[in-house]
Amino acid sequence: MTLLITGGAGFIGSAVVRQAVARGQRVVNVDALTYAACLENVASVADNPLYAFEHADIRDAEAMARIFAAHQPTAVMHLAAESHVDRSIDGPGAFIETNVNGTYTLLQAARAHWEGLGRPADFRFHHISTDEVFGTLGDTGQFTEDTPYAPNSPYSASKAASDHLVRAWHETYGLPVVLTNCSNNYGPYHFPEKLIPVVILNALAGKPIPVYGQGLNVRDWLYVEDHADALLTVLFRGENGRSYNIGGENEARNIDLVTMICAILDRLRPSDRPYASLITYVQDRPGHDLRYAIDPTRIRTELGWRPSVTLEQGLEKTVEWYLANEDWWRPLQARAGVGQRLGTGK
Ligand SMILES: NC(=O)c1ccc[n+]([C@@H]2O[C@H](COP(=O)([O-])OP(=O)(O)OC[C@H]3O[C@@H](n4cnc5c(N)ncnc54)[C@H](O)[C@@H]3O)[C@@H](O)[C@H]2O)c1
Repeated sequence: MTLLITGGAGFIGSAVVRQAVARGQRVVNVDALTYAACLENVASVADNPLYAFEHADIRDAEAMARIFAAHQPTAVMHLAAESHVDRSIDGPGAFIETNVNGTYTLLQAARAHWEGLGRPADFRFHHISTDEVFGTLGDTGQFTEDTPYAPNSPYSASKAASDHLVRAWHETYGLPVVLTNCSNNYGPYHFPEKLIPVVILNALAGKPIPVYGQGLNVRDWLYVEDHADALLTVLFRGENGRSYNIGGENEARNIDLVTMICAILDRLRPSDRPYASLITYVQDRPGHDLRYAIDPTRIRTELGWRPSVTLEQGLEKTVEWYLANEDWWRPLQARAGVGQRLGTGK
């Protein structure tokens, strides 16, 4: 098989690229190298004969047609996106451009390629999406694949729109697709503007650790290597036209998550005072969803997939990785917007 993976220089895409190559798959990584990208994430496979890189924008129809013709992929895994909710509040246009228009352009290129091959039934367009399309939950309940869409941020609305396009290309044109909606990821190579790296890196720098609102928002945390494994499971064994929710079975309130990370740091990199003393409550994000939780029954019962690590185990590995990889994260902190408060709605 040849997998065309978009967004493979990002956080999750690079984990998928590394795992797919390790499993002997041929991979073409298509990435525009935005502020969120880092080719070091895939440095371990860069010289592997199974791996190719194409520096291209998914909104560029000509480039997409050329790349499909050159590499003849048998499947697409579409992860390229603008992904930071706070940035979507300040500048929603880029999210519509890439997540909606870019997905449309990629779908058209994939469709033309698939039709040119004679519409093979085993072709797959795998669209990687988020549980944020379902909106917010109260204190109870979980998202299933049948939960109605109710996105609340420009980011989640753009992802919801892209999910609908993928579904429509399946229903209207017969393009073989699978969709996945996943909870919050964390782990190595997480860009330093997202919550967990911010907590680790601010703590190490002795800076305030910002917690939005009262820290009561609940997320279902999934270790990124587990997500990559789930994505390859769905790609190879998921049913054509079906969507699968992927969760970590690890719900935590933000304040509890931050406190856990501080406790790990107290053990691994002791300081003169507990890192939790740096926790600082800041103005909440507008439209901040209270709780996300995934019902993983479908992927577990139909595909036999479960996460391999608990939140405690995954956080320990993550903190160890950031402690050992300052050369990776230090230069990224100089990129535009990183370290600044974004998305206050002002
Ligand atoms: N991070 C999460 O917790 C999470 C959870 C569920 C779903 N997702 C989804 O998974 C996917 C990957 O998320 P991530 O956290 O790895 O994102 P990321 O921001 O780390 O990486 C996105 C990658 O896409 C590339 N990209 C952006 N615009 C592009 C364009 N127009 N053309 C080509 N490449 C472009 C960037 O250069 C970057 O390498 C996204 O679709 C996101 O919506 C993320």
